[in-house]
Amino acid sequence: MTTTSDTPRTRDWQDLDRRHHVHPFVDPQSVKERGTRVIVGADGCHLVDADGRRILDAMAGLWCVNLGYGRRELARVAAAQMDELPYYNTFFRSATVPAIELARVLAELSPGTLGHAFFSNSGSEANDTIVRLVRRYWDLKDRPTKKTFISRIYAYHGSTMAAASLGGFAKMHEMGDLPLPGFEHIMPPYWYAFGTDAETPADTAARAARALEEKIEELGAENVAAFIGEPVIGAGGVVPPPPNYWPEVQRICRENDVLLVCDEVITGFGRTGEWFGAQTFGIDADFMSMAKGMSSGYLPISAVLMKDEVFHVLSEGGVIQHGYTYSGHPVSAAVAIENIRLMRQEGLVERVRDDVGPYYQAALQRLAEHPLVGEARGVGLMGALELVKDTSTRELFEPMGEVGMACHEHCYDAGVIVRAMRDVVCTSPPLSITRDEIDEMTEKIRIGLDRTVETLGL
Ligand SMILES: Cc1ncc(COP(=O)(O)O)c(C=O)c1O
Repeated sequence: MTTTSDTPRTRDWQDLDRRHHVHPFVDPQSVKERGTRVIVGADGCHLVDADGRRILDAMAGLWCVNLGYGRRELARVAAAQMDELPYYNTFFRSATVPAIELARVLAELSPGTLGHAFFSNSGSEANDTIVRLVRRYWDLKDRPTKKTFISRIYAYHGSTMAAASLGGFAKMHEMGDLPLPGFEHIMPPYWYAFGTDAETPADTAARAARALEEKIEELGAENVAAFIGEPVIGAGGVVPPPPNYWPEVQRICRENDVLLVCDEVITGFGRTGEWFGAQTFGIDADFMSMAKGMSSGYLPISAVLMKDEVFHVLSEGGVIQHGYTYSGHPVSAAVAIENIRLMRQEGLVERVRDDVGPYYQAALQRLAEHPLVGEARGVGLMGALELVKDTSTRELFEPMGEVGMACHEHCYDAGVIVRAMRDVVCTSPPLSITRDEIDEMTEKIRIGLDRTVETLGL
């Protein structure tokens, strides 16, 4: 498995990294013992590390480089905007042209009446913004007790205090005494992990929707502000819900006057074969958060879209006491506009829906025949392989996570980057991936799976 490099230059970077750099979501001991992988370049779907190795990035960075690496058009637009106006804020009734134009483009792209955009820099900030705006909305509607958010186990909504409280990861909650008060979690529509043997995936999804109804009943609808969900749970293990789930959730939210929030940070910008996951699953959201694919990760930017009637209520309440120095940063906004223009020009979303998406899903299904894989699932260009001890009983490995991490490492050594979440191996390649590159990905993952079986003696 990958260890500290033999190449002197790489070793120098690794030594400096060990000395000074604190990494997110990494055990510092593993950095100390084995060194980091230093990435120095990229083109299309491939990265180049400091040893000169080319590696297929089947994760599009962190689910974000939708257009692929090395697009000079984005670099040119960023440079031109830096020349013209590198920064100005959107506070105090100011605006910049890219921020205005991006708000218009997002209103045009998004489904329904999500006609107003608030900008921030990351998915976490977008979700924090939603928590504050939703609570403000209910205050202004004279229903100040409606404050609680309901979310799901294995949801990922970010790392800030509120976003991590929305998330459904016990390990994250352990750091910083989370969740904060006012955040509740229910089961997700995840048959492989939560379904009983007697249930079909649709049965489990119906039970997961019922869990929402029961939670609202338990808390009292007068205390529940919103339900938040990723159209497809992403970092929690790529869990596409059966078709009966979202319509039922939507009905329950409407009947109880609970706002419906879609976290499109991963599913936005073509990942599921439509511009937004809400379109793939027919969700009529009151708020949407988006980030990542909006600029293909070239610069940080995120947005909260809200329905016109929601904005109308917020706009009657005086100053919106919320914002970030870089809300609507003109360079990030200009890059996002160009990214969306290129995606449209190249028909990338339709390509995911009609061509590479189905091809990738078929490739995943072939990997499901591997003895370590209990289930392959996905939608569009996001997918997961559930690694299990016994494929007939869905028995998981103990302790959870070691097999997934071993597979991640073996895949890297085979030349493909995947993401392991527990023992679920996820992929989410750039939307620009070709069929040949999907074949390359599949072969390398197969090698990674084989080596995992060999080295762990499974
Ligand atoms: C669905 C979802 N929401 C929010 C976030 C947080 O985004 P960020 O890391 O930009 O804060 C992520 C990050 O992976 C995500 O997957």
